[in-house]
Order: sequence, then structure tokens, then C-alpha cells
Amino acid sequence: MEEKQMEVVPGLAGIPAAESAVSYVDGEKGILEYRGISIETLAEKSTFLEVAYLLLFGKLPAESEYKKFKDDITYHTRLKVKILRMMELLPENGHPMEYLQSVVAAMGMYYPAKDVMNEETRYWSAVRLIAKMPTIVATCERLKSGDAPIQPNNNLSFAANFYYMLFEKVPDALTEKILDAMLILHADHTMNASTFSARVVGSTLADPYTVISSAIGTLSGPLHGGANEEVVHMLKEIGAKENARPSIERMIEKHEKIMGVGHRVYKTKDPRAKCLQSFAHKLFQNTTGKGKILEIAEEVEKVVNDKLASKKLYPNIDFYSGIVLQEIGIPTELFTPIFAMGRVAGWLSHWLEQLKTNKIYRPDQKYTGLHNQEYVPMSERR
Ligand code: ACO
Repeated sequence: MEEKQMEVVPGLAGIPAAESAVSYVDGEKGILEYRGISIETLAEKSTFLEVAYLLLFGKLPAESEYKKFKDDITYHTRLKVKILRMMELLPENGHPMEYLQSVVAAMGMYYPAKDVMNEETRYWSAVRLIAKMPTIVATCERLKSGDAPIQPNNNLSFAANFYYMLFEKVPDALTEKILDAMLILHADHTMNASTFSARVVGSTLADPYTVISSAIGTLSGPLHGGANEEVVHMLKEIGAKENARPSIERMIEKHEKIMGVGHRVYKTKDPRAKCLQSFAHKLFQNTTGKGKILEIAEEVEKVVNDKLASKKLYPNIDFYSGIVLQEIGIPTELFTPIFAMGRVAGWLSHWLEQLKTNKIYRPDQKYTGLHNQEYVPMSERR
């Protein structure tokens, strides 16, 4: 049998999977824009909820639009008691990403959203998902630590409320700004693995909770969202600035991957890594001795520049996000869920975009298996 002649591109690298107007990356120049606005400007001037609106609806909201969107989100931050009970029954050693994926999938049973072509259904699903994900993440952390969940405080900003639900205290202004910027910086990133996942599942007209739950599962892998946890583990293992060079050189010799380094698209330093590095400096500027992890990271970056620039490998967003989150007291296991709390805005925007001109994803394959094989009875098999 003759097979079709076709070339398989591993990882679909460089193959456009959709037309999109949500975000733009120039990997050579290190540019990232959401709806045409630079990520640096948004991280400095905007808020996560404004950015979520921008991504979802394609424009910055007018004051009244922003107020309505913010009020709608704020009103939906609570979890149903039955969802809380379900979370209490999940294993304590489960990863928060597993909790998040399961609970988001279960939300689809409480908020039916099968009619995905209905504009109201789409709007309220997006609102509920953005509103409830921080509550799910904070509740998961409280339950895993044996503490009672804390109800959302709707007088606080979106980012401050998340911190409050974790620690039962209001964050200082810098911590609040950093958490909010962290969500902005993670909110979208063109056709990455989890966004592709969201678009593929969305293309089947599955409901938005299924779409987002699939995307969360895709993000959980260590080559995607999980890398920021690995960076902190690696920096802790290196332990001191002077160990950075020999440790990294050894890893490179052994062809081990340095976590938080390299990117399919960026062939220069990730602009989000630059923003987070500058937040890290603000955070550490008043702390003596505690900036050790930042010093180690910056030394690792120097070695990576010396040794891997020829391969165009530079720090990505995960390289500095873990350091910053750790310093503001966020447990390591929550790094990727926080990524998801921001990225849900992008996933939903891509889902909405997909539905506008939907065609179910059904790629081809290059068959490399056998044909015309005999069915051998089990007793004769070896
Ligand atoms: N450390 C050392 N070498 C690396 C690294 C790294 N982190 N990343 C890539 N390389 C090397 C590879 O060994 C390979 O070398 P070779 O050509 O000599 O075999 C070459 O660079 C190309 O690497 P690929 O893995 O083919 O690049 P790809 O574009 O497929 O992978 C990825 C990109 C997955 C991000 C990769 O760089 C990686 O695994 N990095 C570490 C994990 C990480 O930080 N992930 C977070 C990505 S950002 C995000 O998802 C938010």
C-alpha cells in the first residue's frame, strides 16, 4: 500500500494553526503585544481585569464597561458549597493543578454552558472562570495545609483578594502590584501548547469548562507551565552564587536542560522575564541577605549567556517568576496555578475567536505502521 508523501514537522514548529488577533510575538526582537499594546506598558499601567477585557473583547474598556465587567467578576468569586465539599474529598497529596483541572471540569455540571453559540452563555462562562479560579487555587492551598478556606473579600482588588484568601491578610501595595502584573504577564502568549489545546477542544463545540480544564491539564507539564517550580528547585540546589558557574557548566556538559531557559519562539531574552527581573529588584531592594536567590539566578543567567547564546537560549518568563512569587510568600506548588489564573483570559479569548470561524481540528498523520497483518490466535502467539 502506498503511503501519502508528506513531511511531518515535529511539534508543529512554525506551522500556523489558526489566524489570531489576540496577541503577537516577535521572537527575534523580544516583543510581546496583547491586541497591539506592549506587554511592558500593560504591566506598568493596566490591571489584570482590564487586560482580560482587552483580550476577550479586542479593545480597552470604557469606564462604564470596565466597571460592569469588574462588578460581574467580583460578584462571582465565591464557590458553591458542593464544590467546596468536593474539594475536601480530593487527596491531600494532589497537586493544585490537578485540583484546578478537576474542579473547573466539575463546574460545567453546575453552570451548564452547552449552548456555546449563545453570547450570554459565553460571557457568563468567561466571567465565572476568571472569577472562580483564584478562589479554587486559594481554597486548595488552605485545605491541603489543614486550614479552613477563607471567603473572598470583594472590597479588595482581584489580586489582593487572592492573597487575602491565601493568608487572611491584605497584601502591601508592592505585593499587590506584583501579583496583578504576574497575571497580566501570563495572560496570553499566541499559539502555545495549552492555547492550542483550548482551541482544539473548543473546535468540537465542547463547553467552556471542558475547554479550560483541558488547557489546564496541558499547562501542567514541566516543559510548559511547570518549569517555574523547577527553576526554584534548581536555584536552591545551587545554593550559592559561586556554585552557579560549575553547576550550570556541569549540567550543560551532561546535556541536561536548564529550567527557565529556552523558548520555541524567543531567540532573545523573553520580555516578560525582563519585567519580572525588574520587579524582583524592587522586591529585594530593601532586604539584606534575602536577595541571595536573585543573585544566584543572575549569575546563572550570565553563565547561560556565555555558554548557550550561540544556541539562542535565554531566560524565559519562568526563570524569574518563581523567584518573585517565592519572595512574596507563595508556596511553590501554586506557581503554575497562578500562571493558569492569568492565562485563562487568553484561553477564553482564543476560544471565542475559534468559535467565530470554527472548523473542527482534524490534522493528518504520516502512517509508519504495518499493513495486511495476520490475526494470530492467542494460543499460538509468542
Ligand atoms: N537548557 C539547555 N539546553 C537547551 C534548553 C535548556 N533549557 N532548551 C533547549 N536546549 C537545547 C536543546 O538541548 C537542543 O540542543 P541540540 O540542538 O544541541 O540538541 C536545542 O537547544 C533546541 O532545543 P529544543 O528542545 O529542540 O527546543 P524547543 O523549541 O523544542 O523547546 C523548550 C523549547 C521546551 C521551552 C525548551 O527550551 C526547554 O525545555 N526549556 C526548559 C523548560 C522551560 O523553561 N519551559 C518553559 C517554557 S516557557 C513557558 O512555557 C511559559
